[in-house]
Amino acid sequence: PAPGCHSSVAGTAREASSVFLKTGRPRSSSMGRRSWCLLLLGVLVAYCIYTPLPENIEEPMPINTPLKALAHLVSLQFFEFQMVPPTSHKNVIVTDTKFNNTPVRVYVPRRKSDTLRRSVFYIHGGGWVLGSAAFISYDLLSERTADRLNAVVVSTNYRLAPKYHFPVQFEDVYDALKWFLRKNILEEYGVDPGRIAVSGDSAGGNLAAAVAQQLLDDPDVKIRLKIQSLIYPALQTLDVETPSYQDNAHMPVLPKSLAIRFYSNYITSDSALRKAMMSNQHVPVEAAPLFKLVNWSSLLPERFLKGHVYKAPTFGSSELARKHPGFLDVRVAPLLAADSKLRDLPLTYLVTCQYDVVRDDGLMYVRRLRDAGVPVTHNHLEDGFHGILSFPVLSFKIYYRLVDEYIGWLDENL
Ligand SMILES: *[C@@H]1O[C@H](CO)[C@@H](O)[C@H](O)[C@H]1NC(C)=O
Repeated sequence: PAPGCHSSVAGTAREASSVFLKTGRPRSSSMGRRSWCLLLLGVLVAYCIYTPLPENIEEPMPINTPLKALAHLVSLQFFEFQMVPPTSHKNVIVTDTKFNNTPVRVYVPRRKSDTLRRSVFYIHGGGWVLGSAAFISYDLLSERTADRLNAVVVSTNYRLAPKYHFPVQFEDVYDALKWFLRKNILEEYGVDPGRIAVSGDSAGGNLAAAVAQQLLDDPDVKIRLKIQSLIYPALQTLDVETPSYQDNAHMPVLPKSLAIRFYSNYITSDSALRKAMMSNQHVPVEAAPLFKLVNWSSLLPERFLKGHVYKAPTFGSSELARKHPGFLDVRVAPLLAADSKLRDLPLTYLVTCQYDVVRDDGLMYVRRLRDAGVPVTHNHLEDGFHGILSFPVLSFKIYYRLVDEYIGWLDENL
């Protein structure tokens, strides 16, 4: 790849991890350079795989050219390099196990505790397509959370698209969470049932919002979450021409075409949905009443509306929605929940980034939750972009600021 990238990439993740953990800051410049190379490689590969093909080329399969096949291979390697085994640290014991068949990674502090511990159930991001609790960035975050809060952190996995589609991802996460919330499991981990948070970033923030809503209606679960923490979550599929989608359509890490590819892949491999979403004409006229729940013209603060004119939605085929009803499902688009449902949600921490296509999803959820009477701490990062938590090296100043604010807020409120 780029000059300076020839040293052992496999070792880098582990090495970077130990540097982070020891100093709390990336230190050596050679580590910095190698991580940069890794990162660039990853972004390039993601672009190769996920940038849309010209519309006149049909896509029989997700991978249809030698270049893409190669890119796919390289990306698998790349993501393998990002995986770290469960490694216990000075203060935290880390183990991989299964909660009701879903693989999870559990972080238990070594420090003695006279009282029951707080707990964070974490859901990783990656567009429902990528990612793992074992990714170095998530592993670091969970370890750090467990250590600083003296809390039990459960970082869950779930089966990924395009091999699996909705509702598999949602159900894997929900089943693991329900398993964790059982009385005997909480006792086993010494967790206080009154002090549990669900948290996630990006697609994980989407799943966190969705499972928090689902729990409210579940007769099997007596426990109430104390907190939901949603970090730059994607929350709706109805309108992909919000001001943030328009303004950040070509923003690196998550351009609009990639966001739509992720969302449509979550629902189905049928490219008809993706194409309809690209022109924002995927919602059938029967679903028209739902638009008021994502009406950015009435839900966004004034300053985000500047330079944007709200247009009435253009409706698409009813056939598409009949074939793939997932994109209108509240478990895929938590912004579609009624106010009467939102009212019962727990104390909320929500992060939005200025340079992010899904920024307005978060802004609208903040507004709707507050209108419904839910207390929300909204952390808007003026210089933020999507995926900060996955790119500690690219963004390390803002990464540390976000992690600090996030864990600090949990410490005060959980
Ligand atoms: C959206 O809100 C605006 C007012 O801010 C209103 O004029 C428009 O009719 C609404 N559209 C929908 C589809 O709810």
